[in-house]
Amino acid sequence: AAVRRYKFELQDTSYSRLCTNKTILTINGQFPGPTIYARKGDLVIVDVYNRANHNITIHWHGVKMPRYPWADGPEFVTQCPISPGTRFRQNVVLSDEEGTLWWHAHSEWSRATVYGALVVLPEKKDRYPFPKPHGEVPIILGMFLLIYNHWEWWNSDVQEVMEEFLRTGGDPIISDAFLINGQPGDLYPCSRRDTFKMKVEYGKTYLVRLINGVMNNIMFFKIANHNVTIVGSDGSYTKQINSDYITISPGQTVDFLLHANQKPSHYYMASRVYASAGDYDNTTTTGVVEYVGNYNPPPTPSLPTFFQFNDTSASVNFTRQLRSLANKKYPVDVPQKVSDILFFTLSINTGSCPNDSCVGPNGGRLLASVNNITLQLPKVDILQAYYKRLSGIYETDFPDNPPFPYNYTQQFVPQLLWTPENGTDVNILEYDSTVEIVFQGTNTVAGIDHPMHLHGYSFYVVGSGLGNFNRSRDPLNYNLVDPPLMETIAVPVNGWTAIRFRANNPGVWFMHCHFERHVSWGMGMTFIVKDGKRRNEKMLPPPPDMPKC
Ligand code: C2O
Ligand code: CU
Repeated sequence: AAVRRYKFELQDTSYSRLCTNKTILTINGQFPGPTIYARKGDLVIVDVYNRANHNITIHWHGVKMPRYPWADGPEFVTQCPISPGTRFRQNVVLSDEEGTLWWHAHSEWSRATVYGALVVLPEKKDRYPFPKPHGEVPIILGMFLLIYNHWEWWNSDVQEVMEEFLRTGGDPIISDAFLINGQPGDLYPCSRRDTFKMKVEYGKTYLVRLINGVMNNIMFFKIANHNVTIVGSDGSYTKQINSDYITISPGQTVDFLLHANQKPSHYYMASRVYASAGDYDNTTTTGVVEYVGNYNPPPTPSLPTFFQFNDTSASVNFTRQLRSLANKKYPVDVPQKVSDILFFTLSINTGSCPNDSCVGPNGGRLLASVNNITLQLPKVDILQAYYKRLSGIYETDFPDNPPFPYNYTQQFVPQLLWTPENGTDVNILEYDSTVEIVFQGTNTVAGIDHPMHLHGYSFYVVGSGLGNFNRSRDPLNYNLVDPPLMETIAVPVNGWTAIRFRANNPGVWFMHCHFERHVSWGMGMTFIVKDGKRRNEKMLPPPPDMPKC
């Protein structure tokens, strides 16, 4: 394994798109940020310099960081922010990940513009479990946030925008321009030249590494006239699936082969929102697949046709087909029996409004919770408090179950649950325990999908369904043979998803909804996985330059 070094400079960069000039936070002046290339098992050392005017942390999404949560990145969970004018050297410790991951800021809403791809190639002596592609390209879906239907573009005032959003307490009509590799595409105003182009040669096959870096939406993705072959997701390979569309959650990655086997021409690739309900932005971001050679293309490429924005079956059916390779070379290690069974309700709630100007239900503000606890981030990070045994930072009583059972998916749930409790509570797991978590979506104030993401681990998605989870019936249908190995999974609206993993990575690990507005409302919690007995089962010590609070 090799050591690879990168230098990341956080900068305020001026940028013009969509008829506007703005200052946005970038890494090294690039948007999207630099792609990190590594091979399986490498150590990537990233020196992060903060040369901007905003606190920052960087998270390596999908990297397990064995025994080393110190550089994982979530602000006030594993570290204090890197403040302006300071530096933090982050060791990104790759282990068994192989495929596509990404990195993004993990401090307030700064990931809106601070993100990039992290490509993990096979070891030198090894190859892909599919024919070698002729070329490969990362494609990151992103967005600019345009609030209240003004062309008011997401910018370095991201802090103000977030605070405004939280202060009004609602789920306001947010209009977004979605992006493919930082480019809106020519269906948006002033964007004729701001269109991502992918050149292909007829008869060749390309590996596309698709990443959803959008803040608040699950996305559909399609390429006109082309079927693709899915080969991986979330940094591990999958059985091959042919599909003419992809559903991708924020946080998730999907690797697919694009076969350039259609009539040489130009074709749109495009992406739009999937949303179970509510206000959403129905605009389409486009890029172009362009065959090289001499031909007469139609003046405009053809656009793929999409499902209805609220087609939940189309959304879940894609994800449900994913399977691990589960062969000799890529075995499956899903716990067949579990020692810890956790049942986590995911709810949108309502709370009182500090300033009488809220637009949420009953004049209050919207909140979100797991097992009816709304996450309060502490002032000193949980990891430091755990390591140094500081008291008063967090409590260790995050419950294994909701306060009481109820009909989670009925229209009106008990009023007692509308307003959650605040807390900085962690759930403690013994080293090497085998854990099952059932995420249950609820209809507390509103029902919606929740893309849940766990740091420090990948997990096997062993089951999912609509309605209330049934403990005596549903586990009989679990897939314990070839479930997909993922680190972000969308729990369907009014439904449930079950995951399993072995808690063999000691440390402090955040788990949260990857919709940014939901995690700001409190949909997150933290696991502390205890050290094991042996030397190589213990958390490593912190680096000397951990940022100070
Ligand atoms: Cu991709 Cu905690 O995040
Ligand atoms: Cu959510």
